[in-house]
Amino acid sequence: MHYDAIILGAGGAGLLAAATAGQAGATVLVLDHADRAGKKILISGGGRCNFTNLGIEPQCYLSENPHFAKSALSRYTQWDFLALVEAHGIAWHEKTLGQLFCDGSAKQIVRMLLDECARGGVDIRLSTTLGDIRHADGLFHVAGHSARQLVIATGGPSIPKMGATGRAYDIARDFGLGVVAPRPALVPFTLGAEDNLFTEVTGIATPATASVNGARFDEAVLFTHKGLSGPAILQVSSYWRPGDPVSLDILPEAASLLRDARRRMPRAHLKAALAEHLPNRLAEALARRIGLATELGNLSDTALDRAAATLTALTFHPTGTEGYAKAEVTAGGIDTAGLSSKTMEATSCPGLYAIGEAVDVTGWLGGYNFQWAWSSGAACGQAI
Ligand code: FDA
Repeated sequence: MHYDAIILGAGGAGLLAAATAGQAGATVLVLDHADRAGKKILISGGGRCNFTNLGIEPQCYLSENPHFAKSALSRYTQWDFLALVEAHGIAWHEKTLGQLFCDGSAKQIVRMLLDECARGGVDIRLSTTLGDIRHADGLFHVAGHSARQLVIATGGPSIPKMGATGRAYDIARDFGLGVVAPRPALVPFTLGAEDNLFTEVTGIATPATASVNGARFDEAVLFTHKGLSGPAILQVSSYWRPGDPVSLDILPEAASLLRDARRRMPRAHLKAALAEHLPNRLAEALARRIGLATELGNLSDTALDRAAATLTALTFHPTGTEGYAKAEVTAGGIDTAGLSSKTMEATSCPGLYAIGEAVDVTGWLGGYNFQWAWSSGAACGQAI
């Protein structure tokens, strides 16, 4: 059958683009190999979907071209998506740091997108193998259908067991677009033997400031049996490259806190001073690592300052990450250099578009990635 546009991928970006284009009068077909639309939406935010963030700003996105996302993000904003959520009567709340979640279930977001697609007369075919994609006489041919316009919205390869693939990159390359090397992002780190101390504190979470390559995030850090996780770590993982050290400020103001503890409890050991601010097992492990086996009252300012310096800049050398199996998103992807930032259309191949996670635009943790899916989907949907 012939359509105005075929959209590959029934995730957040593909569905929003389809609804937008369909409601503007285009005939639209969405194809997906999964048996359900919006599977990542369904599992997101612990089943409640952190669907956007009040603090969306272009600088919260990583890309080879940090300016690329600006246009789409400013033309379809967090407020536009929130208005849609409210128009569908979906109750929501702000959890923390501007993160907006459904009060009920992520299923409501998928239902909303499918209802919007239905309003636009969009055809959605699930459990469909895309097969070869041909482009001849100005038409794209996919799975027995044809259209003048083709949208790549198949996401990135993170969480392959959910059906995620890197097919977007193959299609892009086939049509002459570049691909910025993809890598797992928003992903836990693995640690080797030299950072072994931290296997003793598995399961402990504590607030900290994590930094990598100048990026700093002040949130919880979780010590896992493989290494480090938690929001602060996931955030910096997107900025990490193999070989980079990761620094944790686990006790801000450590120097003055330790001096104060020495004054108040000179007979106590470092562990007791740390345990006033940190979980017990972590205090114990850190005290052992710092190795001051005497009472606080016997410690010089220099010794205390050295201990404080360790606590405010604990340095780790990750051996790697837990990879695509655990990565919430994929950084890198279809090179924005070949795309219009206004429409998401490929400059070298009119009629071809790329949106969502498939593109080299990666947001912070906290609703930023869905907002990119909505904004890039809307930009493309308005153009087709
Ligand atoms: P998405 O991956 O959603 O959709 C792509 C679609 O293409 C899928 O339906 C897939 O089946 C289909 N597809 C892939 N390969 C195909 C092929 N070869 N043939 C046919 N179809 C194919 N973000 C956020 O902002 N807030 C949050 O709370 C969360 N939470 C979260 C939790 C977890 C566990 C994960 C893994 C991810 C998140 N994210 C998130 C990230 C967010 O889910 C992600 O950025 C968006 O879903 C990306 O939307 P897209 O539509 O671009 O791709």
